[in-house]
Amino acid sequence: MGTAAQVQEKNVNNSMSEEVLAGLSKSQKTLPSKYFYDKRGSALFEDICELDEYYLTRTELEIMNGNIDAIAAKLGENIQLIELGSGSSVKTRLLLDHLNSINSYIPVDISDDFLAEVAENLQGEYPVLDIIPVAADYTQPFELPRTKPGVRKIAYYPGSTIGNFTKENAAEFLALIADLAGEDGGLLIGFDLLKEKETLVDAYDDSKGVTAEFNKNILLRLNRELNANFDLDLFEHRAVFNEEKSRMEMHLESKADQFVNISDAQIHFEKGETIHTENSHKYSLESFKELTESHFRTVETWTDPESMFAIQFLESK
Ligand SMILES: C[S@@+](CC[C@H](N)C(=O)[O-])C[C@H]1O[C@@H](n2cnc3c(N)ncnc32)[C@H](O)[C@@H]1O
Repeated sequence: MGTAAQVQEKNVNNSMSEEVLAGLSKSQKTLPSKYFYDKRGSALFEDICELDEYYLTRTELEIMNGNIDAIAAKLGENIQLIELGSGSSVKTRLLLDHLNSINSYIPVDISDDFLAEVAENLQGEYPVLDIIPVAADYTQPFELPRTKPGVRKIAYYPGSTIGNFTKENAAEFLALIADLAGEDGGLLIGFDLLKEKETLVDAYDDSKGVTAEFNKNILLRLNRELNANFDLDLFEHRAVFNEEKSRMEMHLESKADQFVNISDAQIHFEKGETIHTENSHKYSLESFKELTESHFRTVETWTDPESMFAIQFLESK
């Protein structure tokens, strides 16, 4: 008999193993992108955000900086800010500095060690703010701290993370967010806009190879946590624009015909076969409206002068 924590960890590893083996048994092999984010993956994502080619973070911050007073005014008063996939909470600091009256900040992230560190540092910077980190996979049911009546719940979902979902799954997830925000609630969301292929491919295949390292980190994690034996030198990072689906895709291409052991299974890879590891869907303002309008009404949209990225404030319908 193990401790409750050991039993919980075993359950997490079992479901990870099931999801991973199910994905690698498909004809187009896949891995869930949420498994990028162990502590090293989260740190590598922070490095990606600093790259010249990765215009997304820079542009979203530019839009936030240029419109922060208007954004804060729309969010209102006495709010609970719930950030989904909070990462380093960099953009959040801008909100925390400008919101008129904030009841509490709830960062939610699957990368538990990284989240704990970020929340502790943030609490040091904002000593009187109630900060309650929630380590959870937000695609599964999870519990949020209770709020007093009269507190307005605002979900914050920046970073174009909505783009990681297929359009069908994004619609389902938006329904969950609308439920979480409740009647008087809202959603502040950042999403990436469709643009020419070259800029998109460069953003996911940078010259320093940081995105390649981030992509391969998922294999390192499987080696460590699921007793796998991926040889990282036998897989190559690929970033592909799928025009039909309006999305960037990341893949890991096998450089050889090979077998890999994972948990108790053995998986065969043909030379040239890929594992599809991530989608980043790109939207137009129109296609994003189609996605959100069943649950939200668009209150305001902010973009940069070159229309690279958009931030919207939406209210529950
Ligand atoms: C693209 S990063 C964005 C980080 C940050 N919000 C930003 O805008 O820079 C995605 C974040 O979502 C988290 N994440 C990804 N999938 C998740 C899931 N299923 N549940 C909870 N967090 C998740 C990752 O750990 C990571 O911090």
